[in-house]
Amino acid sequence: MTLTDTYTLNNGVKIPQVGFGTWQSKDGDEAYNAVKVALEAGYRHIDTAAVYGNEVSVGQAIADSGIPRDELFITTKLWGVGTTEDAAKALDDSLQKLGLDYVDLYLIHWPNPKAFRPDFESRNAAVWKAMEAALEAGKTRAIGVSNFHRHHLDKLLKTAKVVPAVNQIMVNPSDQQREIVSYNVKHNILTEAYSPLGTGRIFEIEELKALAEKYNKTVAQVVLRWSLHKGYLPLPKSVTPERIIENTQLFDFKLSVEDIAFIDGLHGKAGLASNPDEVDF
Ligand SMILES: NC(=O)c1ccc[n+]([C@@H]2O[C@H](COP(=O)([O-])OP(=O)(O)OC[C@H]3O[C@@H](n4cnc5c(N)ncnc54)[C@H](OP(=O)(O)O)[C@@H]3O)[C@@H](O)[C@H]2O)c1
Repeated sequence: MTLTDTYTLNNGVKIPQVGFGTWQSKDGDEAYNAVKVALEAGYRHIDTAAVYGNEVSVGQAIADSGIPRDELFITTKLWGVGTTEDAAKALDDSLQKLGLDYVDLYLIHWPNPKAFRPDFESRNAAVWKAMEAALEAGKTRAIGVSNFHRHHLDKLLKTAKVVPAVNQIMVNPSDQQREIVSYNVKHNILTEAYSPLGTGRIFEIEELKALAEKYNKTVAQVVLRWSLHKGYLPLPKSVTPERIIENTQLFDFKLSVEDIAFIDGLHGKAGLASNPDEVDF
């Protein structure tokens, strides 16, 4: 196994099994350098979003890498808009910032933004139409969602012509989102695991330190390997070159079945994802 081995999405598109996260990587040198180091370290899958405000720097690092476009997998996400027209414009804006003709994956970032509550159903149906049109037009190779729970997906599927290829949700040993994961599996939707290190909180779990020592690996490596063993696609973020590289070194060990089960038992130890229907945005 390598960093660039792929999962196959429900529309046949191949996606590298580990992606590089860029949330909170500041536009400018920070995001540019992080993506540059990540590409040098072998990542070929980069995860950004309009709301991260760093698409320009991410795009510049991609362009400067000289890596052929078809060897890269780039994801961005739709934020905050409520109509088909505005969603189409949002993707064009992201493409322009990234300096790309197409992305590989375009996601509805949030299922129930505060501005459209309580009627997330018609909002998501409207923006999904724009996502389907973008897929048809070749502006993205796959479309999906993020932070969707079962009720959001059930409603979306009532009007969707295309089943989402991906549901990107927070998944790490401390929040395993079992109900959403099993829904995704049932509908052939790939689970991308965001915050695979709990945005840093995973390092608070004492039990993981002893486990990492046993394998002579770091906690980050053990947790990312667990994510892969579970069939998820982890998206670790770092702006620290040594950590960016460390997080690629996942394939010279395997967790035992017992240790995977042990990590499964750590649910709730370091915080849970927030409820997308209740957050203040
Ligand atoms: N769809 C969504 O709503 C959503 C939400 C959140 C995240 N995401 C995506 O998922 C990605 C990852 O999630 P995340 O940013 O929440 O965080 P994460 O990857 O779970 O954790 C990142 C944090 O851990 C630190 N870190 C990384 N590797 C480490 C290592 N080997 N040893 C010690 N510390 C390490 C980083 O520090 P430094 O950077 O300082 O090195 C940073 O503080 C995001 O960047 C984004 O692309 C999506």
